Amino acid sequence: METVIKKVSLSPIIPNEYREAAEILQGGGLVAFPTETVYGLGGNGLLEEVSGKIYAAKGRPSDNPLIIHIADLESLKLLSDDIPKEAYLLAEKFWPGPLTMILPKSERVPHKTTGGLDTVAVRMPDHPVAAALIRESGVLIAAPSANVSGRPSPTSAQHVCEDLSGRIEMILDGGEVGLGIESTIVDLTGNIPTILRPGYISEEMIEEVLGRVEFDRAILEKNAGAGLRPKAPGMKYRHYAPKGEFTIYRGETKKVAAAILEKAEMEKKAGKRVGIIAAEETRKLYGSDSGISVKVIGARADELSVARGLYRTLREFDGEGVQVILGECFEGGKLGQAIMNRMLKAAGYRVVEAG
Ligand code: TXA
Ligand code: MG
Repeated sequence: METVIKKVSLSPIIPNEYREAAEILQGGGLVAFPTETVYGLGGNGLLEEVSGKIYAAKGRPSDNPLIIHIADLESLKLLSDDIPKEAYLLAEKFWPGPLTMILPKSERVPHKTTGGLDTVAVRMPDHPVAAALIRESGVLIAAPSANVSGRPSPTSAQHVCEDLSGRIEMILDGGEVGLGIESTIVDLTGNIPTILRPGYISEEMIEEVLGRVEFDRAILEKNAGAGLRPKAPGMKYRHYAPKGEFTIYRGETKKVAAAILEKAEMEKKAGKRVGIIAAEETRKLYGSDSGISVKVIGARADELSVARGLYRTLREFDGEGVQVILGECFEGGKLGQAIMNRMLKAAGYRVVEAG
């Protein structure tokens, strides 16, 4: 199959531009599109055979459910017959936006879309292209991140193309995304609302609206390897993985830089291609050895730039054939939990305490 890549304008949104993409979705085909978090690989979430195509295009295990993207609250009522009041409170505050809610599913949602579960994940994305596509097609769009399973999520149309060219009908190119890490997932089907995946919408922000929220213990760093089963099936896979072996260095800035450089030299001598993940503020600590690829993920003073740069940086190392990746730690701040959740998974929880 030939994948058509179509550039679309963000402002103004021109409805006609979406006709072709909308027709593909209406006909049961697949279209990748930008959201404010990462690019999604979209298809009709209410058709079993289309969900099957999505899993196949991504090479994704079919027990890992998809998120359905909507553009208005009426659509939510089609997906669930049992919407708790917490869902409306969160929707009012955070939709459209980077928050996914888990609700009991209605009969309309096929089990194929929900990985066999009786619950459904729903999100109203805050991106003009995603909203226009949902509206123009009238399709409730099931969309996982538009990467091949196990690869870092795509933050540009180019990344989608690298992974899915030839496997889907169309890619809508709306430029680079704004946030760069996937939505927060909150499960509203239990007694206490529970965060299954951290994201831009933080624990504190949800707590402010609902009064109480828990965190799925299985995804905390201290419980890695403890054999707890994450409530979001996708969180159990070694997601976001670069090809190189990635280790995170934690500690005081100068000690971290010294430990990273020492390791980098050693690996280089052993004939390995080495990459270093630095911040704008610390770049100068790593010098300019032509044999070591130092990349700036973003600025510590601007957390969003770090979130946005994470997957791009990992993909660039893949492109350069880097075999050993040594990265600084990006804890703290409002986004630290979400950024570190992705980084730790990409690193298979390999962390060196640099003192
Ligand atoms: O920001 C995002 O959420 C992006 C954009 C495209 O919207 N989408 C995304 O989808 O990250 P995906 O498929 O890569 O991740 C969905 C996560 C998986 O970990 C999956 O297991 C979980 O959501 N999930 C989906 N339905 C669920 C359910 N019913 N119960 C628990 N977890 C669910
Ligand atoms: Mg994903």
